[in-house]
Amino acid sequence: MKYIFMILHILMGVNVKAASTSTTTKLSTTMVQPSSKDEGLILFFLRKVPSSTYKHWSIGATSTISPPEITSNSAPIAGKNKIPTCDQLLANNPEEDWLFASLCSWSNSNYNGTLSSLDFSTIFEENGNENELNLTSINVTLYDGKFNLLDSIILVYNGVKDNGNSNANEAWWGGSIRNSLLYYKDSNLIFNENFKKDEIFREWAGYYILINLLGINPIRENPSQINDLLWEMYLDKSSFTPITILSKKQTSFINSNRYFSIINFNKTNSNYVELWDPTAGGNLGFFTINIEDLKNDVKWLFHLDWPRYYAIPRKV
Ligand SMILES: *[C@@H]1O[C@H](CO)[C@@H](O)[C@H](O)[C@H]1NC(C)=O
Ligand SMILES: *[C@@H]1O[C@H](CO)[C@@H](O)[C@H](O)[C@H]1NC(C)=O
Ligand SMILES: *[C@@H]1O[C@H](CO)[C@@H](O)[C@H](O)[C@H]1NC(C)=O
Ligand SMILES: *[C@@H]1O[C@H](CO)[C@@H](O)[C@H](O)[C@H]1NC(C)=O
Repeated sequence: MKYIFMILHILMGVNVKAASTSTTTKLSTTMVQPSSKDEGLILFFLRKVPSSTYKHWSIGATSTISPPEITSNSAPIAGKNKIPTCDQLLANNPEEDWLFASLCSWSNSNYNGTLSSLDFSTIFEENGNENELNLTSINVTLYDGKFNLLDSIILVYNGVKDNGNSNANEAWWGGSIRNSLLYYKDSNLIFNENFKKDEIFREWAGYYILINLLGINPIRENPSQINDLLWEMYLDKSSFTPITILSKKQTSFINSNRYFSIINFNKTNSNYVELWDPTAGGNLGFFTINIEDLKNDVKWLFHLDWPRYYAIPRKV
C-alpha cells in the first residue's frame, strides 16, 4: 500500500508540474496534447490522493509557452469536427483570463450555443467552393450589455490568429470572439479600445461577459455566504451550464486573483472538481481539486440565473 501511494505521489507530482511549469519552449503538438487516455490517467491519480498532499503546490501557474507557428491564411474554426472545446483556447494575455475561462465554460456546457454565434455555415453556402474546414473569415454575432443581439461582424483569420487560440492552425474561434468584443466596444468591458483591467472590472468581468456571450441574466455569488450543499449543487451543474470562478487575493490551493472554468463535478463519483486554467491553456489547463479546498479559495462564483442552459437558435 505504501508503495502504491508513493507511486501515486510521484505520478501526481510529475503531472501537476507538467500542467503548471513555465517554459519558453515552442509548443509542439506532441508536447501539449496528451492522448485522451493519458488525461484520464492523470485525473484518476489526482482523485485518489488526499488533498493535503498537494497543499504546497500552486496550481495553474501562468504559462509562457508560445502557441505553434501559423503557416496558412486559413484554418478550421473549431477543429476537424467543428466542435468548440476548451483545449482550443489559451489566454496568452493572462489578464484576459475572465474571457477565456468563460468561453471554455460556455463550450463545455453546450458547444451548440457557442456555434450559434459563429455563422460559418452560411458563408460556406454563399461561396460554394470554399472548404468549410479551411476558413479565411467568419461572422460572429454577440449581445450588447443590455441583452440585445448585435449585428454580425466579419472576422478575418489573419487578424485574430495571434491571441486566444492554443493552436490557431486547428481552431480560432477564441480569437475571433475576443476580437469581436474589442470591435463592439461595449462599455462594460472596454475602455480606450482595450479590455478593462482595473480591480473593480475584474470582480465583475465574469458577470458581464456572460451577458455579452449568451444574452442571459447571470449571477455573481460569494461562496462564503452559501452552504456546502448549495455549493455542491451549483458545481454539479457545470457540465450543462457555464460556471466560472474568480479566486481570492489570498489562496491556499489555486493561484490567487485568477479566473478558472468549472468543467465537471459529480458528487456521486468523487469529491474532486475538474477545472480549467485559461492561462495554462489547451490541454495543460485541466486539473482537479477537492471541492472544500476550492470553496475556501473562491471569491466569486459566476453562473446563470437559470437552472439549465439551452442553446438558443438565432438564425432562421
Ligand atoms: C448539437 O447539435 C447537433 C446537431 O444539431 C446535435 O447532434 C448534438 O446532439 C448537439 N449537441 C449538444 C451538446 O446539444
Ligand atoms: C486552405 O485555403 C487556402 C486558400 O484560402 C489554400 O491555399 C490552402 O491550400 C487550403 N488548404 C487546405 C488544406 O485545403
Ligand atoms: C456577415 O456579416 C456581414 C456584416 O455585418 C453581413 O453583411 C453578412 O450578411 C454576414 N454574413 C453572414 C453569412 O451572416
Ligand atoms: C453522476 O454520476 C452518476 C453515476 O455515474 C450518474 O448516474 C449521474 O447521472 C451523474 N450526475 C450528473 C449530474 O451528471
